[in-house]
Amino acid sequence: MCGIVGYVGGKDCADILVDALSKLEYRGYDSAGIAVFEGDRIVTEKTKGRLADLTEKMKKGHKPSGTSGIGHTRWATHGEPSDVNSHPHGNAKISIVHNGIIENYIRLKAFLIDKGYEFESQTDTETVAKLLDYYYNIEKEPIKTITRVLAEIEGSYALGIVFADYPGKIYSVRKDSPLIVGLGEGENFIASDVPAILKYTRDYYLLECDEIATITSDNVTICDIHGSEIKKEVQHATWDIESAEKGGYAHFMLKEIHEQPTAIKTTVSPRIMDGMPFLEECGITLDMLKSYRKIYIVACGTAMHAGLVGKYVIEELARIEVVVDIASEFRYRNPIIGSEDLVVLISQSGETADTKAVLRLAKDMGATTLSIVNVKGSSIARESDFVVYTHAGPEISVASTKAYMVQLSIMYLLAFELAYANGKITEEECKALVSELENIPSKIEETFGIESDCQYAASTLVNAESLLYIGRGLDYALSMEGSLKLKEISYIHSESYAAGELKHGTISLVTEDMPVIAVATQDRLFDKTVSNIKEVKARGAKVVMVTKNTVDVTSDVADVVVKLPVVRDVLMPMITVVPLQLIAYYTSVLKGCDVDKPRNLAKSVTVE
Ligand code: M6R
Repeated sequence: MCGIVGYVGGKDCADILVDALSKLEYRGYDSAGIAVFEGDRIVTEKTKGRLADLTEKMKKGHKPSGTSGIGHTRWATHGEPSDVNSHPHGNAKISIVHNGIIENYIRLKAFLIDKGYEFESQTDTETVAKLLDYYYNIEKEPIKTITRVLAEIEGSYALGIVFADYPGKIYSVRKDSPLIVGLGEGENFIASDVPAILKYTRDYYLLECDEIATITSDNVTICDIHGSEIKKEVQHATWDIESAEKGGYAHFMLKEIHEQPTAIKTTVSPRIMDGMPFLEECGITLDMLKSYRKIYIVACGTAMHAGLVGKYVIEELARIEVVVDIASEFRYRNPIIGSEDLVVLISQSGETADTKAVLRLAKDMGATTLSIVNVKGSSIARESDFVVYTHAGPEISVASTKAYMVQLSIMYLLAFELAYANGKITEEECKALVSELENIPSKIEETFGIESDCQYAASTLVNAESLLYIGRGLDYALSMEGSLKLKEISYIHSESYAAGELKHGTISLVTEDMPVIAVATQDRLFDKTVSNIKEVKARGAKVVMVTKNTVDVTSDVADVVVKLPVVRDVLMPMITVVPLQLIAYYTSVLKGCDVDKPRNLAKSVTVE
């Protein structure tokens, strides 16, 4: 959570900092601020609210003018969103921006208060700023000061630091929060993520834990906590700027929904050889896949929902037991895992704190770890034994859509490969499945033809206070994702329920005021789900049914029907999720919500 940036170069930097921050607003957007060197003075402007509020404030008041500075967009952890809690924090001598959580800040704050420091914010970050000041008064030199502070602070951090005695220099360090150093011509950057620097450069260093970077306009040096210089490999970003912009769509979410066919192609094509799944390039061999006792899939939110589809598909095709769990639960429940198990971590950002903690736990317990990650070089990707990158490109909307879709693609490839490795399907069957997976992008394009039906369905839901999503089997897994998407961006409460479980209690909630979205795409379970739909209809519920276009639905079953192009049942989730995403999207638009930046959320959840 939170985005940090820094710039040192020859240009006036306030606008550059704000522009770079605008690419990081997905990380948090409840307050924003910058600190810029005006000569050897650090001038700070910050405010509660969006970046647009900061820009407005600077337009009306003072816009700092100078060629180096740091900036921040916040997702509040300690202290409510307010002017005083906004970053940068510091004083006339030192200013910092921080992403992460300082876990021992209460103890450090007490120590500093004892030394005579006064605090004005409720943030953990202010403690770091004051601790830097305390040690700078002793050490009189930035790197030694930073090293002393690193020895004291516990938790996660990516820090951008400026010292008034060193104008034109930014110092930066990280632990368990991402940070890159962008390498330009006569200008250099720091940023929490690649999209922030793409407009200016594609070359960057990935800063590792406790490496300290010193950045000037024409030089970047990196040292460890003992002061020894470290040589880094330059990384090159291949994401294009266009894909980090809205490209004519009203919202990033809609654009990203429409990017799904391309994202699948880019993710799947390199993993197919001679018509068969080919994960060997990631180091995953058939022999290896055959050897596992059990597979655990652990993730958070939408990524966990992709894992649920994975469970159904792997168990169905490969007949291997799969346990799916939420990372924040799994990590604290003393799980039974060992060297015979494969633990799969799914994460778009590759930085989610709970998922990362499970990865470390699984490694400590001797399991093999495989991560499915979208962001290259992210912590989870780097720390896993094996990584399969999804190639969704940057996902900006907080509500995840295309990342989920490519996570599903990898789940399928893994299931096919496992099924083949275990002798549960023949080469011919495997090739047929792969070929149908390759055909999914064109089926999704076809599904966009029902966008107006989804818009209509949304119009029937927009005034509801609460909704139910129901389904069975794979459709239940999809219902969970549909429900999460709707509540996340439209603020309408919804719950997803296994259709057959309704009558064990939850059906008492059903009245004419509670619409039901019923997902029924699995032939084997269709009649059963229809019976459950009739049960809610009989209690007055208005029903939106999402089903195949080969099915005839009468008005005694559903009030609104969204009909989908047909693929084989096991692959239907890749089609079914599209209308669920669109229904959530249009409901949010009709309600006038902030689709891409829903309240209280952030894209990258780097705190537990
Ligand atoms: O970056 P990750 O995939 O690890 O993030 C996990 C969840 O925070 C994420 O999927 C979240 O649930 C989405 N915003 C939902 O749309």
